[in-house]
Amino acid sequence: MTFPKDFLWGAATAAYQVEGAAFEDGRGPSIWDIFSHTPRKTLNGDDGDVACDHYHRYEEDLDWMEKLGLTAYRFSVSWSRVLPEGKRRVNEKGLDFYARLIDGLLNRGITPILTIYHWDLPQALQEKGGWANRDTTDRYAEYADLLFRRFGDLVPYWITHNEPWVASFMGHFTGEHAPGIQDLPTALTVAHHLLLSHSKAVEAFRTFHLPDGKIGITNVLTKGYPASDKDEDRQIALLFERLQNGWFLDPIFTGSYPLELIPILASYSDFSFIKEGDMEKINQPIDFLGINYYFRNIVRHAPEAQPLGFEILPPQGELTAMGWEVYPQGLLEVLKNVHSQYGSIPILITENGAAYDDLLTPDGRVEDRKRIQFLKSHLEKVDEAIAQGIPVIGYCVWSLMDNFEWAYGYSKRFGLLYIDYATLKRIPKESFYWYRELIAKTVTI
Ligand code: FCB
Repeated sequence: MTFPKDFLWGAATAAYQVEGAAFEDGRGPSIWDIFSHTPRKTLNGDDGDVACDHYHRYEEDLDWMEKLGLTAYRFSVSWSRVLPEGKRRVNEKGLDFYARLIDGLLNRGITPILTIYHWDLPQALQEKGGWANRDTTDRYAEYADLLFRRFGDLVPYWITHNEPWVASFMGHFTGEHAPGIQDLPTALTVAHHLLLSHSKAVEAFRTFHLPDGKIGITNVLTKGYPASDKDEDRQIALLFERLQNGWFLDPIFTGSYPLELIPILASYSDFSFIKEGDMEKINQPIDFLGINYYFRNIVRHAPEAQPLGFEILPPQGELTAMGWEVYPQGLLEVLKNVHSQYGSIPILITENGAAYDDLLTPDGRVEDRKRIQFLKSHLEKVDEAIAQGIPVIGYCVWSLMDNFEWAYGYSKRFGLLYIDYATLKRIPKESFYWYRELIAKTVTI
C-alpha cells in the first residue's frame, strides 16, 4: 500500500462514549444520559457515567496516541459540557477541558479533527422538542459559533454532524437510540433540521475566514446489493441507497432531496418542515466529506414491508461481533459512487473498524488478529481508491479505545486499546502495534 505522505492517520472517539465525568465540573445532562438511565434502553442498563474516564485520563490517552504515531485524532465535544442548558450560559470548565485536549494534541504534532455533534443533545433542548423543533437549529449554530470562536485557529478540521442518518432514523423512527422516539414523520423533520443546522454552522464558520480551517459533515454510507438479479430487487436496492446515502448527500451537493423518494414518503409527511430558502442554504459548499463505513446491505423487494417496500436480508459470510458483514469491497464501491455522483470532493474516512470478542490473555495481551485483518482489508480498498484518483485525505480507525457502544453498552469492543472496565487500565491490542507499524512506514518525520 502506498499512501500520500500527508495522509491523515487517525483514530476516532466520541464524547459520550469515552469521557465519563457525566456529573462533574458543571456538565448538564444530555439525551444519552436520560436514555441510558431509562430501564431496558441499553444492554445491561449500561450508561456513560464513567465510560473510559477519558475526562480525567486524557493525558494518558494523549500519550497512547503519541505512542501509536497518530497524525490525526477525531473527537467530539459534548454540547452540554460547554453549554449545560444547551444555550446562553457557558461552562468555562467544560471548554477548558477541550482547550487542554487540543493543546495536548498540537504539542504532540497530532492534527485535531473536531466533531461538533455526535448525538448528545442537551436534555434541556430535548424538553423543548429537541431536533424536531426548528429553533434547535439556531441553538446549534450558536453552540458551533462558540466553538469556532474558542478553537477556530487551533483546529483545522471541523465536522458539523456525525451520521445524521442514525441520529434521525435510529433516534426518532426505530427508537433504538436517544431520544427513543418511534415516528417516521418526526424522523424526517429531524433529518431536515440536522441538515439545516449543518448549513447554519457552515455559514457561521465562513465568517471567521480561518485560513487553515476546513469544515464538512460525516455520513455513514452503505452499498445496497440486490438480493437477486430480478429487476425489482435491483431497483429497490438503488432506492434503499438513495434513502440512506442520498437523503443526506443530495441536499448538500445538489440542493434537493432525492425526488424519486418524495412520492413514497408523501404518505408520511407533507414536507412542510422545508421552508423557503432552506435547500439553497443546505446546498452551500463544504471543504471535505467525512465518510463512515462499516458494512454493505443486501436488499430484497418486499412490497408488504413499510415504509419503502424493501427488506434487508441477514448478512452473509464473515461477521464481526456486531453481526455486521465484513465486506471491504463495499467501501471501494461507496467511495467510487460518491466520487462519480458528487464530484471530486476531498474525502476523510472518519470511521471504519470492527468489534470482536477480545480476550485478555493472562500475560496481558490481546491477540486481535481478526481486527488487523479487517483494518488491512479495508485500507487496501482505500489505497485502491486513491490509485483510481479518488482524493481520500485520511482514515480514522473506530476506535482509539473500547468504549460505550450506545445501546450495546460496554459489550462491544472496537478499540485499538483494550479497556479493562474494572480498573480502567488501557492495554494495547495487537492491532495497536500493527497500526503503529503501518503508520510509521508511510509517515516521514
Ligand atoms: C457509528 C458511530 C460511532 C460508533 C460506531 C461503531 O455509527 O458513529 O459512534 O458507535 O458506529
